[in-house]
Amino acid sequence: MTTDLKILFVCLGNICRSPLAEGVFRELVAQRGISDQIICDSAGTHSYHIGALPDPRSRRVAADYGITLTHRGRKLSSEDFAEFDYLIAMDESNFENIEALFRRSTGLQMPEDRLFLYRDFDPQADTSEVPDPYYEDIAAFEEVYQIVERCGQNFLQYLAEKHNLA
Ligand code: 4NP
Repeated sequence: MTTDLKILFVCLGNICRSPLAEGVFRELVAQRGISDQIICDSAGTHSYHIGALPDPRSRRVAADYGITLTHRGRKLSSEDFAEFDYLIAMDESNFENIEALFRRSTGLQMPEDRLFLYRDFDPQADTSEVPDPYYEDIAAFEEVYQIVERCGQNFLQYLAEKHNLA
């Protein structure tokens, strides 16, 4: 059986964390051989960087691991709620902004099983957030890579069990 699951990774600017999370997760899905079953994208809650490639530091860290990021920045919209099965927030503020947009556009509460804080999938975490590296140096981007890789492994396992993926 083929399931088409659509996953949207969300941060503030959609140039640092969420495009890196998206690229890494797509690679994990490919390694598992189920690229035909999961579609990934990313978006930001703000419109600062619409149309922009990911931050050069996110692209550099991804390239170090053989991943090319070609995403163009875009803003989260109410249409995304109809399009995507899961929305994955990088931090608490993204999470709250997603919930608020969902409420405004549907009049309903965001279903608990469709919106997650990504860091809740990190067994090593002592925080619920993927830290914002924008004002930091390259080491912070490397740390974000390691975090989204760990979270990606566990989120993919969660999806595989929930949806009987290969
Ligand atoms: P991101 O990081 O949310 O991980 O893409 C940021 C990118 C841009 C800004 C802040 C955070 N900014 O203020 O422009």
